[in-house]
Amino acid sequence: MSFKDKCAVITGGGGGFGNTFARALAGQGANVVLADVNADTVEAAAQAVNDLGGGKALPVVCDVTSADSVEATMEAALSRFGSVDILINNAGGSLNVPKDAIDQVSEADWDLVIAVNLKGTFLCTRAAAGPMKKAGYGRIVNLSSITARAGGQLTPVQYVSAKGAIISFTRHVAQELGPHGINVNAVAPGLVLTPRLEGMWMERKTEQERQDYLKNVPLGRLSSPQDIADAVLFLCSDQAKSITGLTLDVNGGMYSA
Ligand SMILES: NC(=O)c1ccc[n+]([C@@H]2O[C@H](COP(=O)([O-])OP(=O)(O)OC[C@H]3O[C@@H](n4cnc5c(N)ncnc54)[C@H](O)[C@@H]3O)[C@@H](O)[C@H]2O)c1
Repeated sequence: MSFKDKCAVITGGGGGFGNTFARALAGQGANVVLADVNADTVEAAAQAVNDLGGGKALPVVCDVTSADSVEATMEAALSRFGSVDILINNAGGSLNVPKDAIDQVSEADWDLVIAVNLKGTFLCTRAAAGPMKKAGYGRIVNLSSITARAGGQLTPVQYVSAKGAIISFTRHVAQELGPHGINVNAVAPGLVLTPRLEGMWMERKTEQERQDYLKNVPLGRLSSPQDIADAVLFLCSDQAKSITGLTLDVNGGMYSA
């Protein structure tokens, strides 16, 4: 699998998955634009990629809920690397909102989570579609979640809703952009212990609770960030050229569509 001279824009590039996706793509020769609202983590993530000596990394401070910020990010990618070949819509999460009962969910919490996860995916896809159509080539991978399939035992309703809508968005945009040589797919991970979640998993769950959770995972292990990166890179590769509109479940067998 080679991504030599391809340019990949990774939103949420300073976070757990974003770091892993960036290293994996740059390790295969891609130049990566790491777009994140957190200036400190995105700088550090880009530095770590550049230290590896593969593809180059450009950090960009970007708020995916702002159309101007997203447009500026795509322009930065085009001006530095000359193309936007790959877009990974990864910025998101439940953003620390509480998992309230449905009759207690605030509009502010609803709007925040929908804006970052769903509107951000829309704005970034819209901004990348122009250059990709012009080039007649593109690969877009959106981050959904097992909670979109199975409901959110651990996550709030607005997160589950955004991740479910991303599956429909993926299917629709794949049909629209297919004739332009652009493949659009999604990955739906189960629980993955990124550095941020690992502490919560160890602190908030007893050993017994952790073992009980794993009993529901047919493969008997939680997926790693690298497992998710492997799926993302496959969907961006030539080996997946006939696959579009798919949401690939990567969860050890807890749910399969
Ligand atoms: N880790 C898991 O178990 C898991 C499971 C299923 C899906 N996912 C999804 O994968 C993606 C990455 O998750 P993660 O675990 O790496 O989370 P993370 O919190 O480590 O990373 C998310 C990144 O998004 C950035 N971000 C937040 N708001 C932003 C905004 N408005 N504009 C730009 N960037 C913004 C954050 O600064 C952070 O760096 C998310 O969409 C998440 O919902 C994660």
